[in-house]
Parts: sequence; C-alpha cells; structure tokens
Amino acid sequence: MTGTTNFPEGFLWGAATAAHQIEGGNVNSTNWVDEYHPRATVSEPSGDACDSYHRYPEDIALLAASGLRAYRFSIEWARIEPEEGVVSLAQLAHYRRMIDTCRELGVEPIVTLHHFSFPRWWRARGGWAASDSATVFANFARIASSILTDVSWVITINEPNMLVTNLETTVDTGTGVNYPDDPDPVVARAIAAAHRAAVDVLHEALPDAKVGWTVANQVYQAMPGWETQRDAWQYWREDFFLEQARDDDFIGVQSYLRTVIGPTDDDRGYGPQAWPQGTDVTLTGWEYYPEALGHALRHTWEVTGGVPMMVTENGIATSDDERRVAYTSGALVAMSDAMDDGCDVRGYLHWSLLDNYEWGSFTPTFGLIAVDRATFERTPKPSLAWLGAIAQSSSLPI
Ligand code: NOJ
Repeated sequence: MTGTTNFPEGFLWGAATAAHQIEGGNVNSTNWVDEYHPRATVSEPSGDACDSYHRYPEDIALLAASGLRAYRFSIEWARIEPEEGVVSLAQLAHYRRMIDTCRELGVEPIVTLHHFSFPRWWRARGGWAASDSATVFANFARIASSILTDVSWVITINEPNMLVTNLETTVDTGTGVNYPDDPDPVVARAIAAAHRAAVDVLHEALPDAKVGWTVANQVYQAMPGWETQRDAWQYWREDFFLEQARDDDFIGVQSYLRTVIGPTDDDRGYGPQAWPQGTDVTLTGWEYYPEALGHALRHTWEVTGGVPMMVTENGIATSDDERRVAYTSGALVAMSDAMDDGCDVRGYLHWSLLDNYEWGSFTPTFGLIAVDRATFERTPKPSLAWLGAIAQSSSLPI
C-alpha cells in the first residue's frame, strides 16, 4: 500500500471497548440497578451484552489477527470492589488474564480504570460529591495497580466532562428531572481531585506507565458573533477538563461530532443548535462530520499547552460498513493533517472493536466486528481488515 507515512515509529493502532458495554452481567453496578428499574428510561438493559467477560480471548484474537496492535478496555470497579473495602482477588485475576492475553498476542493493553459504570455502594455513599471521593477513587487505583505492573498506558477516568452533566441518566425519577442541564463546578472539581489523587498513586506504583484521562471533545463552533457564549458554554463542559491534563503524561482525545453554539429561546439565550434540515446524520443522530477529529486534536493541543495525545475513541454508529470506512478515512486524514501541523499524536484507537451496548440500546452499532444478539457469534466486518491493513503499513492509502 502506498500512502502518507507521517506516523512515528511505535504509533499505536488499535480499537477500544468498555467493560459495561461488552461484558454482560454487571450486576453490582448502579447501571444495572437503573436499567432494570421499573421506571427505567433505557430502551433495553445491558443483560449479557456481548458476553465478553467470557469471550475476551476471541475478541483480542480477532483484533490481533487484523493487524491492529493495541486494545483499550476498562476494568469494572463494581466487580473488583463489590462492597466498599472488599477486594475480589478472582476478578483482579480475571483482568490480569486479559492483559496476559494481549501480551501473548503482541497487543498493547491500554487500561481504563473508570468508564462510566459505578459500584452500587459508591452512589449510596454520595458518589463524587462525598467529601472523601478522591481518596476512595485513589484507593481503587491502588488496588488496580497490583495487576498493571507491565501496563504502559493507564487511563484514570473516561470522559469526566460527560459524567459531570450525566450523573443519573437512566431512571425517570417521576419528577421529570433525570440529570442536570448545567455542569456543576463542585462536582467537576471533585472529579479532577479524584483524577489527581489516582495519578499520584499510579505514578508511585507504576513508575514506567504513562497516565492520563480522556475527554469527550465536542468541537464547539460559534455561529458568527456568538464566540463569547461559545466560550462560556464550553468551559465547564470541556476546557476545564483539558486544563487538568496539563501535567499529565498524555491525554485521550475522543471525537465523533461538532456542536454549533448560537441563539436559543430558553432563559439562557444561547446553546447548541439543532442540525439544519437535511443534515446527514448517523444512527446516534449525530451529524456525519469526520473532520471533527482534526479540530478536536488541535483544540486539545492548544488548551493543554502541548500534552502528547492519543485518540482513545473515534468512530461512527452505522449499519453500513462502507460508510464506517469512509468516515474513518476522513477522520484519519484530518488526524494526519493535524500531525503535519505539529500535533503530537501517539496512537489511534477506533471505537469500537465490537457492536455493543450503547448506554441504553444495542441499536447504534459502532463495531468493527458484529455480534449476534442471540448466539454472541462474532463476525468481523470489512472495516476491521481495512483498519488492520492501515495499522500494518502505518500509512494512509492515497
Ligand atoms: C464515548 C464513550 O466513552 C463510549 O462509552 C460511548 O459508547 C461512545 N462515546 C459512543 O457514544
């Protein structure tokens, strides 16, 4: 394959998942409680998900066979610490086996400690708002570090900027209030403190590991004249969280779309604009806009002041795999252009390895691999081989 080859030696090409979305049977999590609540607002519960708790060897083998060389996955806090202070050695051993499987297949494991799902006891004791939440989360990081001895990339918290507006997403409480419209700076600071405490623990326990967190990059664009409002909207929803990474070893960039800020009829008077009629949207209802990744990288580079970046998620929910290839191709060109302009990007991890539980429904299919909902049989899509070939040559086809 001929192509552009601006990818540095060791650039990591891979795919990503998260425990709750693929493992199945996450019964000790708040997500499970909410999904099976009589007034749950999800379209369907996670149930057995992709049964990856048992089938992870097959998942990692398919990733490796394609030519991809990195697997980002999360370890489930609700399994490892099912009650506060109670550590399951068997569950730790399970995740250690996943790391070993990666190593045996020449795949770099990239491990997320917290990807949206919480143990039940965590919420009962007040969640992030509890005065000692940083200590409690750092303690989980300490427990996890025992199995991460040879892991080079560790992510503390996935998309803290989504957590801050999306604390209780799935239960209709009967009051019509499911989650706050506005990010709460107190909670944002509590999550940042938990991150800092976990980073310290991990650096001490794993001196060779690169530690960071991942931010959902929404590519906020202002309508002409609405720049000040855009900046105000963006601060507690994104930039605060990027700023926290200024001293980190790396930051994860997660990009799918853009958000245009302009006038609204609510009390605030400004906010995200609806997509104009006729906009090409994906199965999640998001605008088809592969260029978003380039903007996300440039913005992250600027706000963090030059922290090395890894694309820890990028992808598209579609049932048309050719569209997935086209979207990803556009995103990779945008990434490559940003790198030519000086952005330091260490890897690209596609979301997602598998069609999985998209926090309420299995319908938006993001996977490079299809999963049969009845048999759990895996069927790689052509996009998996396509991305694997790019990984092997580490160049983009032109
Ligand atoms: C970001 C989240 O980290 C992931 O869990 C989710 O499935 C994807 N975005 C797609 O919405």
